[in-house]
Amino acid sequence: MIELKNLSRQFGEMWAVRDLNLTINKGEFCVLVGTSGCGKSTTLRMINRLIEHSAGEIHIDGQPVRGFREDLLRRRIGYVIQHVGLFPHWTVARNIGLVPRLLGWEPERIAARVDELMALLGMSAERFSGKYPRQLSGGQAQRVGVARALAADPEILLMDEPFGALDPLTRDGLQEELLSLHHRLNKTIVFVTHDMDEALRLADRLVVMHEGQIRQQGRPIELLREPVDEFVESLLGGNSRGLKEAALTPVAQRLCHAEMTSGVPDIDANKTLRDALSLMLWHRVDCLNVVEGSESLGTLRLADVVTARAPMGTTRGLSS
Ligand SMILES: Nc1ncnc2c1ncn2[C@@H]1O[C@H](COP(=O)(O)OP(=O)(O)OP(=O)(O)O)[C@@H](O)[C@H]1O
Ligand SMILES: [Mg+2]
Repeated sequence: MIELKNLSRQFGEMWAVRDLNLTINKGEFCVLVGTSGCGKSTTLRMINRLIEHSAGEIHIDGQPVRGFREDLLRRRIGYVIQHVGLFPHWTVARNIGLVPRLLGWEPERIAARVDELMALLGMSAERFSGKYPRQLSGGQAQRVGVARALAADPEILLMDEPFGALDPLTRDGLQEELLSLHHRLNKTIVFVTHDMDEALRLADRLVVMHEGQIRQQGRPIELLREPVDEFVESLLGGNSRGLKEAALTPVAQRLCHAEMTSGVPDIDANKTLRDALSLMLWHRVDCLNVVEGSESLGTLRLADVVTARAPMGTTRGLSS
């Protein structure tokens, strides 16, 4: 879907991005991480041509973006940034309808689309469509930003630290919503963040950048288990990598005892090993009852969490 070939961008003498190669598949959730100034935003903005590249190529669906007309770029690529960039003197509805209006849609079609998007993002149109950005909380404004980016139903969504300024609970909720949107709408997403837990939670493909280049890319669990060097290892959390890996591993993957244990807390089979550890610590127990709905699947012991053993034959209903 998106192909970056030997992509470079210079600012004066300085290379912000140098000889970067990256292929992002259709429907993939790709997350770029790396220290400040390593070229993440520049890479993102070259994709929608807010910044032109100095050398190399960018193809979308096999077509060079250099050849795209501006209205086509706007329609195909949505863009969300940290401070949203909503127009302060426009209502929520007008802000969301920006791109459709630029594309010349009929007013009735725009109004219907705005309502649809607000519903999609869990915002009551009745309550919010007439409000101005200053009357919104950070999380609400961010939702409007996402709705606006989705307005013309783009295939690609570029998101530059969209949840960076939010409190952890709101951020958590929006991550959840974005994941569910991603599953439902199957957009190709390129997302930049400084928050490694956010990156690990969202990414199908995690890309670690350093000094304008890619150090390593792959599935989050691959990078956690086999970082190519100390830089990647420390960026991914150094000594806390084990906990981060536990946060990506479902309980069901370590379930090896089919018998139930009475008098211990239940944990849902789709929760993570990190959730299980936390529950054990909180209740001062060393095993948990693993359940799926009202059905008990067996017992998870502390030893199963810390040592990887072959799980039981059961894989019922588990999203591995
Ligand atoms: N318009 C510009 N003019 C000159 N230098 C720039 C410009 N935009 C970016 N740079 C430089 O290019 C490098 C990469 O910047 P970029 O914004 O892509 O980094 P980043 O990875 O997004 O960083 P951060 O995590 O802090 O947002 C930086 O050294 C930055 O100073
Ligand atoms: Mg940036």
